[in-house]
Amino acid sequence: MSIGIDKIGFYVPKEYIDIVELAQARDVDPNKFTIGIGQDKQAVPEPYQDAVTMAASSADSILTAEDKKDLGLLIVGTESSVDESKSTAAFLMDLLELPEDIRSYEIKQACFGATAGLQAAYDFVSLNPDKKALVIASDIARYGIKTPGEVTQGAGSVAMIISQNPRILKLDHKSVYMTRNVGDFWRPTFSKTAFARGKYSNEVYVEFFETLWNKYQTKYDVTADDFSTMLFHIPYTKMGTKALRTVEKSVSADKYKKLTKHYQESIKFSREIGNLYTGSLYLGLLSYLINAAQENEKVLLFSYGSGAVGELYSAEIQPGFEKMIDKNLILDEMKSRQKLSIPDYEKIYQVEYKNGTMVDPSEVDTKFYLSAIKENERLYKKLK
Ligand code: HMG
Repeated sequence: MSIGIDKIGFYVPKEYIDIVELAQARDVDPNKFTIGIGQDKQAVPEPYQDAVTMAASSADSILTAEDKKDLGLLIVGTESSVDESKSTAAFLMDLLELPEDIRSYEIKQACFGATAGLQAAYDFVSLNPDKKALVIASDIARYGIKTPGEVTQGAGSVAMIISQNPRILKLDHKSVYMTRNVGDFWRPTFSKTAFARGKYSNEVYVEFFETLWNKYQTKYDVTADDFSTMLFHIPYTKMGTKALRTVEKSVSADKYKKLTKHYQESIKFSREIGNLYTGSLYLGLLSYLINAAQENEKVLLFSYGSGAVGELYSAEIQPGFEKMIDKNLILDEMKSRQKLSIPDYEKIYQVEYKNGTMVDPSEVDTKFYLSAIKENERLYKKLK
């Protein structure tokens, strides 16, 4: 039985900052941010948006009544969860009007959560072939104003329906993974912003990729020539380039040129949005599918979540995949965003809703929003 991604949708906040303006405001050479880091824009969520509202939006863009009827599993991968007890998935039941006979939960392991969800969904569908699973990645990446990580922030969500006979991406069920206790990036429960040993995190990321790529080649007796594309977790777009460079020595110049060209297509959306944490790899997949993918291509996907877990797995792009993606809708969503000035972004950044907050719906411009915090409980609504 073939199993994989049957539908993929995304959500990006409606406002962004320009990375050159951020560099100027921080007194940094803009080339450092646009070339050295590789970013152009950064998504900025409104204070009434969070992992729940963004997850609802990305899922809402692909779910039909028939999908809802067939769902047996809902997993949200996030490290920006709003509650230490209740999962992001539970909040979505009302917002998305899902039937109750669904197993649902949240997975946290930094940027690895959605990949863990995808693999669990694969197992679920292989045992329940008539059912579908919904896997959502939703995060707000935050390091703090004037920190080295600020240029690598971002926000957004990617939703995927996993089913048998997938029409976008068939998973090969060939995968290698590893876990190591690493202090490269962490966010204690008291903090809204992450702490990172930035340069060390880059080194661990690259080392994990090299280790897993060697393991994958040995385990499945393949080389880079067996794949046309390598997709990476993209915390900022220079990061995947660093990992890809490690492949250069073992392939022909022509092959490396092609892999690099395909990588450039996969980072187009990330350059414009920033880090989605656990959704970043899948934003790269979506960017590649929309901008360059070909039917029957064999692709490798490298997932990395600080702390740290890595997984490298392979998949095959399905014939007719482009009919399953609303390219115009996605490109319009990207283009219709509004630019915020750096002082306005800093103002939004400082807003922190406390108990007793009531959000005025006339000031909301997203379909799903945080409407109030009462008795410390977050309440959500869908705009009529
Ligand atoms: P930094 O100290 O600002 O940067 O931190 P730098 O001084 O190393 O410079 C960055 C690059 O810009 C360098 O290039 C410079 O040479 C270049 P590289 O050597 O890396 O190729 N540069 C210039 N280029 C052109 N013109 C110039 C110029 N000046 C310098 N004038 C860092 C950068 C990424 C470390 C920081 O932003 C950070 O800490 N970010 C957060 C951590 C992170 O994203 N780590 C990535 C790996 S870990 C991961 O992916 C997991 C994660 O997503 C979390 C999760 O799993 O949940 C983060």
